[in-house]
Amino acid sequence: MQEPHEPADRAIVVKDVRKRYGDTHAVDGVSLEVETGEFFGILGPNGAGKTTTLEMIEGLREPDSGEIRVLGLSPWPRNPRLLPRFGVQMQVSSFFERLTAREQLRAFASLYGVPQTVADELLERFGLTEKAGNRVEQLSGGQAQRLSIACALVHDPDIVFLDEPTAGLDPQARRNLWDVLRDINGQGKTVVLTTHFLDEAEILCDRVAIMDRGRILESGPPAELVRGLGSATRIAVRAGTLPVEEAAGLFPDAEVGEDEVSLTIATKDPSGVLSVLAGKNALTGLSVRGATLEDVFLELTGREYRA
Ligand SMILES: Nc1ncnc2c1ncn2[C@@H]1O[C@H](COP(=O)(O)OP(=O)(O)OP(=O)(O)O)[C@@H](O)[C@H]1O
Ligand SMILES: [Mg+2]
Repeated sequence: MQEPHEPADRAIVVKDVRKRYGDTHAVDGVSLEVETGEFFGILGPNGAGKTTTLEMIEGLREPDSGEIRVLGLSPWPRNPRLLPRFGVQMQVSSFFERLTAREQLRAFASLYGVPQTVADELLERFGLTEKAGNRVEQLSGGQAQRLSIACALVHDPDIVFLDEPTAGLDPQARRNLWDVLRDINGQGKTVVLTTHFLDEAEILCDRVAIMDRGRILESGPPAELVRGLGSATRIAVRAGTLPVEEAAGLFPDAEVGEDEVSLTIATKDPSGVLSVLAGKNALTGLSVRGATLEDVFLELTGREYRA
């Protein structure tokens, strides 16, 4: 059967995909599209269905219904034409037993017919050269995490899937990984990741989808989602810099409050407020906090704990 044609600019097309485990609707009618070269993030609380969605796109799980096309092809049943074009880092990483870090990477390299030197370059790139001779069980959690991402990149895939790639990484390793991922994306690769770090999603992703209970609640560029929320910017100066009554009179459209530390003005006209404060020489201890993706996330998914 001929594969249906997909426009070349769509790396991934998911249409109304569902997956149930017993009574759990893990994925409950998800549709999304990812363009070639896009950096796409799937965000959501624990159990939202992110990993299940990713695994269906990767061809590791069969959807109950719906349609998935990756690079114009169906990933299920396991599509040998797609596998070499995917780089997959799983949430629970699996390594070959009893091999050192270098041997792991070299094993992946030989599987894909890639020169062994690539393995050593990746060790270097992920700061693992010093640990190259350690067996995986002797690596720290963060080091093992970095190794599993390096393994996913060995064959220079067109699409990279990362399930919580920065979970358990220290701040240095997290930022290094951001650089690596930006680099890969800069080379035109499509990157799809899940993360619980909303600052990370905001910084890295061209677009994000916010999922909860198996459904996508909202998707778009992070800045657009934040703007769409229409939240106020919170401008704070040191308490006592300006009497609170005067501030309330100056900014009737804003929400003005004071505690022992700060006078806070929540406003939708931050530049207007700032210029008035500057005119009154009342900028001592100034801090300005705009709405973030985290505000959007909490607004959409609520604040209660998830299983
Ligand atoms: N193999 C499975 N068998 C039964 N239920 C499963 C299975 N895998 C996932 N689930 C259930 O499906 C739902 C979605 O799980 P999934 O792993 O996709 O969530 P997630 O968004 O990746 O969560 P997390 O942020 O915790 O990784 C959860 O309720 C989970 O308990
Ligand atoms: Mg998950």
